[in-house]
Amino acid sequence: MTPSQAARSRYTVKAYDPQRSLQPDQVEQLLDVLRLSASSVNSQPWHHVVALGAEGRERIARATHGPYAYNAPKVRQAAAVIVLCMRRELDDAHLAAVLAQEAADGRFASDEARANQDRSRRGYVEQHRQAGDTREWMARQVYLALGGLLQAAATLGIGATPMEGFDVEALDAELGLTQQGYTSLVLCALGWSAAEDFNARLPKSRLPREQVFSFI
Ligand SMILES: Cc1cc2nc3c(=O)[nH]c(=O)nc-3n(C[C@H](O)[C@H](O)[C@H](O)COP(=O)(O)O)c2cc1C
Repeated sequence: MTPSQAARSRYTVKAYDPQRSLQPDQVEQLLDVLRLSASSVNSQPWHHVVALGAEGRERIARATHGPYAYNAPKVRQAAAVIVLCMRRELDDAHLAAVLAQEAADGRFASDEARANQDRSRRGYVEQHRQAGDTREWMARQVYLALGGLLQAAATLGIGATPMEGFDVEALDAELGLTQQGYTSLVLCALGWSAAEDFNARLPKSRLPREQVFSFI
């Protein structure tokens, strides 16, 4: 499947077949896409909670009450639900861990190269600290990973539903995310469309090409 074919075929699944699960290798491919996503200065300010079983999905569904109740059946019936989270702080310990990983992965030919990378990354981090938009900056990185996940699921023919419609505070409490230094941002259900998935039969709707692009 070409990238264009995947983009044209993907749509937001509105009802899942609860009988069908994902193959372990499909799950691993999707997790790879999340973990290997690009992020500004390789900051990787994320953590993702993966629910493959009914018990985990039920815990997530507890945060789809009130105005979010329309998302509850998708969370319960999908084969998997991933809670995409971001860090609450982009602290020194995290920056040191990223640098140590880059060193362990063989990215630095010298101590000087390592120090340069650290300095350059911390420069961007400091810019965002001063601008007061560190959280917004981190969230952008997580959404970039979400985009890759949606495209990858489409390439594998797996249905997906990105969902911002849930109670963040309730989910953070349910999963103990605050104590771990994270907060939930967006959910992604994954699985197989059911017969009652009305969105499968609707045409895709997007603004026209000439409005979306200008060429210089
Ligand atoms: C960040 C984000 C949050 C979304 N939240 C929800 C949601 O809570 N529930 C839902 O059914 N769809 C949700 N959607 C799906 C959008 O409504 C959908 O992507 C959009 O209408 C375009 O349709 P398509 O994905 O079928 O092409 C969300 C999509 C994105 C990207």
